[in-house]
Formats: sequence, C-alpha cells, structure tokens
Amino acid sequence: MTTTIRRATKEDGAAVGEVFLAARATMTYLPRLHTDEETRGHFARLTAEKETWVADREGQGVVGFAVIDGGWLEHLYVHPSRFNSGTGSKLFKQATTRHPQGFQFWAFQKNAGARRFYERNGCALVKLTDGQDNEEKEPDVLYVWPAPN
Ligand SMILES: CC(C)(COP(=O)(O)OP(=O)(O)OC[C@H]1O[C@@H](n2cnc3c(N)ncnc32)[C@H](O)[C@@H]1OP(=O)(O)O)[C@@H](O)C(=O)NCCC(=O)NCCS
Repeated sequence: MTTTIRRATKEDGAAVGEVFLAARATMTYLPRLHTDEETRGHFARLTAEKETWVADREGQGVVGFAVIDGGWLEHLYVHPSRFNSGTGSKLFKQATTRHPQGFQFWAFQKNAGARRFYERNGCALVKLTDGQDNEEKEPDVLYVWPAPN
C-alpha cells in the first residue's frame, strides 16, 4: 500500500482533526486544554485556510499532516498506527521542498522522539524556553530548518 503526499482540501478537515487527536493522546505529559469538539473545529478551519499537506495511505485515508504558514511549520502529526513508517519523513520532505528558503517550528522538550527526528532531518536548535509563552506552559524548543552552516 502506498502513501501519497498531497495538498489537503477542506474535505480533509475532519480526518486531519482525528489524526491530531490520536497523535496528541500519545503525548501524555501535556494538559488537555480543549474538548475534542473544539479541536476538531480548529483543525477543520486550519485545513481550509492554511497550506496543509496530508499523507494519504491507500486503503486507510489520511494518516498524517503538516501545516506550514508564514515561515513556520505549525504542525506535523502522524497517526500512531503509522509511527515509524517514514510518513513523518515524507511530510517533512514536502515542507522543505515547498519552502527551500527555510522555516522555524516549536517542539516540546519532552518530545524526545520528535527531537531526534528533526535533528536527523537537518534542523538546528535555536533556543530552549521555560514554556511560559505557550498554551500548555510546557518547556519547549525552537528549531530552524535548514541548520545554518
Ligand atoms: C514525530 C513524528 C511526526 C515522526 O513521524 P514518523 O512517521 O513516526 O517518523 P519516521 O518514520 O519518518 O521517522 C521515525 C522517527 O520519528 C520519531 N518518532 C517515532 N515515534 C515517535 C513518537 N511516538 N513520538 C515522537 N517521535 C517519534 C523518532 O525519532 C523515530 O526515529 P528513531 O526513534 O528511530 O530515532 C510522529 O512520530 C508523530 O506524529 N509523533 C507524535 C506527534 C509529534 O510529536 N509531532 C511533532 C510535534 S513537534
């Protein structure tokens, strides 16, 4: 079964929300600040309004997505059923191909797997924060791609 990366349409909004909820449920160190309904509404709007790419797997549908806006990779999430399958790498590659001038993004410091993933994919750490400026109040890390020479 192949996984294709394609630009999302507004019809993908619901599936994007479900991928986020499932992936986020594995990040057990985060507080739950919104109801699932609020989250679904938020991702339906984002998918319709911002540059969103989905990983569409034959027979399964949307299994991952990336949202890129104004020099920021705002979201990169893969459904847990497809973790470690190369799906995140394909989505990240799409972001770099479409935005060769580069972009920044945040990750949580506790997200060791994602940090390894980004550091392997040519990103550089810009700064660590105490998390007081993010919604979850969880220490985070700012990355930039590409890593400066
Ligand atoms: C991080 C993530 C996008 C990577 O996508 P993926 O399809 O699993 O990644 P790939 O198969 O292309 O690459 C595998 C690497 O992803 C990372 N990874 C795998 N499972 C992970 C998990 N449960 N949580 C975080 N990172 C994970 C690891 O670095 C892994 O490599 P390694 O453990 O062998 O060093 C994906 O695992 C995910 O959505 N995780 C949960 C949500 C998240 O952390 N999003 C990033 C927010 S900044």
